[in-house]
Parts: sequence; structure tokens; C-alpha cells
Amino acid sequence: MIDTHSHLFVEEFAEDLPEVIRRAKEAGVTHVFMPNIDHTSLDDMLKVCAQYPGYCYPMLGYHPTSVGLFSKAEVLSMKRCLALGHPFIGIGEVGLDLYWDKTYLREQQEVLDEQIQWALEWNLPLVIHCREAFPQLFEVLQPYKNTPLSGVFHSFTGTSEEAAQALEYENFLLGINGVVTFKKATLPEVLKQVPLERLVLETDSPYLAPVPFRGKRNESSYIGKVADKLAEVYGVPTEQIRAVTTRNALKLFKIPE
Ligand code: NI
Repeated sequence: MIDTHSHLFVEEFAEDLPEVIRRAKEAGVTHVFMPNIDHTSLDDMLKVCAQYPGYCYPMLGYHPTSVGLFSKAEVLSMKRCLALGHPFIGIGEVGLDLYWDKTYLREQQEVLDEQIQWALEWNLPLVIHCREAFPQLFEVLQPYKNTPLSGVFHSFTGTSEEAAQALEYENFLLGINGVVTFKKATLPEVLKQVPLERLVLETDSPYLAPVPFRGKRNESSYIGKVADKLAEVYGVPTEQIRAVTTRNALKLFKIPE
């Protein structure tokens, strides 16, 4: 399995990261993809990825909840990291978040659009965070509908209509995490219209731990619970969920099998 979205470089893992990685390997996780948060987290992320080469893979991006009035300059300075020989496998995480704060919607949209340019220019998938902002997100994405832009709608928990709208972007997949295991989740019903070929697994560690770990610190080794739940939803063996989502992730992020 591939954990396509895991922030193992944050301080929640400072004490026991080697153990967390060991448990992930034991659980059958073959790769961990790491979305960046903003300019202040880059060094920590790159350090962890350098410690686990061929296992942890970094992305470059500026998270919407970090966006303020003066973020544009910070974002533009990060662009320099894409110079020749960069290690990044994707642009993320980027997007819009109107749940915490609506003040900087315009700035969030500008910063997102800037990073879409990077994804296109460097031919990297875009990892999108979207919370209570689908209409505003599709406003930004619409002009890129018929471009080679590819990516993941990470932590997808939207409605059937939003899923249909997202899947119209043919080079995009939905990232499914522990939310699908929650008791009141509507996602299992929504997924009935989504082919397995359009899904990747993720944890969003340290957040959104699946049942029975809900509320605790999440880690990559728990990803099997997400695969098990999807096996139930799709009525197929867990091995099939693991194999198909792994193939989908390797293809999207252009990692050789
Ligand atoms: Ni995240």
C-alpha cells in the first residue's frame, strides 16, 4: 500500500519516528508521500525524506490555512526549490479552506493558481486540500480542465455531485482516508459511483485516524483499516484494494514499480 498523504515530519512524530516507520513497513506500506505545509516546514520534511530515501517522498506546496495577506511573496520564494534536480514528486498541499477562515479567500485562490502553474510547468501532480470550498475551488480549476493537469482531491469527503464534478477532471483521483471508517460517514454511499481506478489511499497523519483509533494520533501503519473498509464498500478482497490503489498512486506520481 502507498500512504499518499502523510505529514510524518511534524512534531507529533519527533519522539518516535523510527518506530512509526518500522510499523508502517510491517503493515505493508511501501511508500509514504509527504505533502508540505508551508515555507516553515520545508526543512523538516526534507530532513525526514533524506533519512528514508526510497521510502518517504517530498512534495512542494503552500497550504491554504497558512495563507494570509503577505503569502504571495513566500510562495514565490518557494518556487526557487524547483530548480534543476529537485526531489519533489508533487505540488502539495495546496487548495482552499473556508472552514477555519474566509478572510483570505482571494489570496488563497491566487496562491492556488500560482501553484497550478508550477504543476503544469514541471509536470507534477497537484495535491488539493478543499474544505467547505468546492464552488470556489472549481472556479480556479475550470480554466485548466482540458490541460494535462493531474492530481488528487485529498481527503475527499464530498457529496455525490461534488464527486461527479471532481471526476470530470480526468487526470485526477480521490484520496480516501480514515473518514470513510467513521460511523456517520456518507462517503461509502458516494463511492458507489466511483470506480476503484480513481482512488488512492492516504492517512493524513497525524490527523483523521481510522476506527478503532479515531481521536488518537494517526500514523501510516493504520492505512490497512482504510483498505479494509473500501473492500467492504466495493465487495472485493482487501488485496485487490491494496493492489489497485498502489498502481493508481505509482502511475499518478510517476514512480517506477
Ligand atoms: Ni494534509
